[in-house]
Amino acid sequence: MSAQNAPEGADALRPEAIEASTSAALAAIAAAGTMAELKDARLAHAGDRSALALANRAIGSIPPTERKEAGRLLGAARARVQQALAERTEQVEAAELARTLLAETVDVTLPVELQPEGAIHPIRGLIDLMSDVFVAMGWEVAEGPELEAEWLNFDALNIGADHPSRGETDTLFVEPVSNHLVMRTHTSPVQARALLTRDLPVYVICPGKTYRADEYDATHLPVFHQVEGLAVDKGLSLAHLRGTLDHFAQAMFGAGIRTRMRPHYFPFTEPSAEVDLQCFVCRGESVGNPDRPCRTCKSEGWIEWGGCGVVNPRVLRACGVDPEVYSGFAFGMGIERTLQSRNNLSDMRDLVEGDVRFSRTLKGVAR
Ligand code: DAH
Repeated sequence: MSAQNAPEGADALRPEAIEASTSAALAAIAAAGTMAELKDARLAHAGDRSALALANRAIGSIPPTERKEAGRLLGAARARVQQALAERTEQVEAAELARTLLAETVDVTLPVELQPEGAIHPIRGLIDLMSDVFVAMGWEVAEGPELEAEWLNFDALNIGADHPSRGETDTLFVEPVSNHLVMRTHTSPVQARALLTRDLPVYVICPGKTYRADEYDATHLPVFHQVEGLAVDKGLSLAHLRGTLDHFAQAMFGAGIRTRMRPHYFPFTEPSAEVDLQCFVCRGESVGNPDRPCRTCKSEGWIEWGGCGVVNPRVLRACGVDPEVYSGFAFGMGIERTLQSRNNLSDMRDLVEGDVRFSRTLKGVAR
């Protein structure tokens, strides 16, 4: 029943009429399933133009003796409608909230698209690790240019003009040749640069890229990395070199790993040696033991690691350091080779191709 065709005036105050308006209101309220429908029901049955409101306004038009009873009935009816509205509002609100929650449910078990995680390149990781070992002993990290003066790459290091490594086969000369610039063939020129620019004593580690006209295959790269070490101070000897290399080896390959020196020749050190690493996998146990072959050292017990020696006085002199007062030691290792034996890499080219899936396999290992 709507307000429009509700009985007007005194008729609306008859108990049956009040009862009918009330039932209509309660039915409409009960039928409202949304807040919008409930709002319509409120307007129609409890608003100013509703049957019960109109009836209320008609009270003045009935005989005074009937007013009290009519007022009581009407009051009770309107209270019932208000209470029904309040209860229904609560129910509809709760139902709407439940519907919203259901509609907005997130299934946290659904697969999500993960951002692919990157990885530090293993060469960078190993350089950082090596640098940390030396920085912890108070050494400094020094760098030099990859396009280097021929004099610093060779002459300052006592590599004469007729030295084989100076020939076109190894060295990449940069045109015009009259500028005497080369792509540095080793990190050793940073030794000369450090001595020429730093105050003594000098303790530097020099990691970086190096270039040679070499093959590109599983064990050679034309662009590779080396790490150079140089210490020049008063009273340094071969014994300090040995101790430094042992510490370096143990920091890189594990406690207890030893190094050995094999006499060798390098123009910039005298005496010079090649430094080998005790095999960190079999620790020499595979030598002469065919039952326990070792892939890492090919059952030789030792792994070639790099070159080293006592700095040649001619190098000190070329860099303005008095060899009567100062002495020093130096060493140089290939970083790819170190990584190859340390992490059992079969193909050095993996280090060049920059595939993050490869770098990720060495994550935390190189570093
Ligand atoms: N520069 C040498 C090379 O490229 C490596 C090397 C050997 C560096 C002996 C040194 C050293 O500092 O003392 O093969």
